Amino acid sequence: MDDLRQKYLGAIADAADEAALEALRVAAVGKKGEVSLKMRELGRMTPEERQQAGPRLNALKDEINAALAARKAALADAALDERLRAEWLDVTLPARPRRAGTIHPVSQVTEEVTAIFADMGFAVAEGPQVESDWHNFDALNIPGHHPARAEMDTFYMHRSEGDDRPPHVMRTHTSPVQIRSMELSGAPLRVICPGRVFRADYDQTHTPMFHQVEGLAIDTDISMANLKWCLEEFVKAFFEVDNVELRFRASHFPFTEPSAEVDIRCSWEGGTLKVGEGDDWLEILGSGMVHPKVLEAGNIHPSVWQGFAFGVGIDRIAMLKYGIPDLRAFFESDLRWLRHYGFAALDVPTLHGGLSR
Ligand code: DAH
Repeated sequence: MDDLRQKYLGAIADAADEAALEALRVAAVGKKGEVSLKMRELGRMTPEERQQAGPRLNALKDEINAALAARKAALADAALDERLRAEWLDVTLPARPRRAGTIHPVSQVTEEVTAIFADMGFAVAEGPQVESDWHNFDALNIPGHHPARAEMDTFYMHRSEGDDRPPHVMRTHTSPVQIRSMELSGAPLRVICPGRVFRADYDQTHTPMFHQVEGLAIDTDISMANLKWCLEEFVKAFFEVDNVELRFRASHFPFTEPSAEVDIRCSWEGGTLKVGEGDDWLEILGSGMVHPKVLEAGNIHPSVWQGFAFGVGIDRIAMLKYGIPDLRAFFESDLRWLRHYGFAALDVPTLHGGLSR
């Protein structure tokens, strides 16, 4: 019995893992283990022998079971210690400054423009990118033969053979959302409509898909003066300058009468744009008083209501504000470009918190 005791207690103390422990348990106190077999021999002993051997065997069995349990607990502790060492983490280290994802300048500028006009009471409206040619052209007083249709390099959708209805178009501007907003909400109305537009054109300042934001305000006493004030407030807020001079240049758009293109005073000293000073003028948008035919197309009575409208290129003003030279890079998904020109994801533009800081 002493041999058994020494053999198993020694082996248990040396067992390297749970599998080795289990093998020892089976070999010692399992059904056919050495200690169990010895216990079976008790039956063949005289009562005196049995009285001697029985308790000693039981004590040995208990001792082995206790050693197994102790070793098992020690192995588990060691495993936990090892894990704690391996998974140790210094939570006091500073966070990594790397920005995994950034906000695209188009999204940023859309948010900035939205924040500015929301402050002046404009809601955001949207329309479909695949548009009926009536909404994109006719309703905006651009009839079938009008040169503006050709000038806009329109993408036409496919119609199946024998279908003579005019094809839908990829909207060439956000102006059709004016019509959709009038149809949906009637007058009075104050909306901006940011979104994608499409024209077959490609060079340093043109891509086949780009972004515009349309503005539309309709009420019973709206004039050019309201338009001028709104645009001045917008330009000051957007370019984050206290003073800016606007120049309204007479122009022509089919959907406005009168129409004006708006330039801002600027300088290009040293190749960087400064808004609000200098001797240059920079064209930034088209605008005017909504043409009576356009109001009629939107089911709004032109003898009661008037409105102003404007359209701005979002990508264009993003390039100007943030000094981005080539429009094509906007849509190439080059990570280096996105990291360079992108904005921190949690810096949402607001008027009180700052637009671009
Ligand atoms: N739709 C015009 C364009 O894409 C821009 C525009 C000009 C919109 C004058 C207007 C406006 O609302 O009044 O070139």
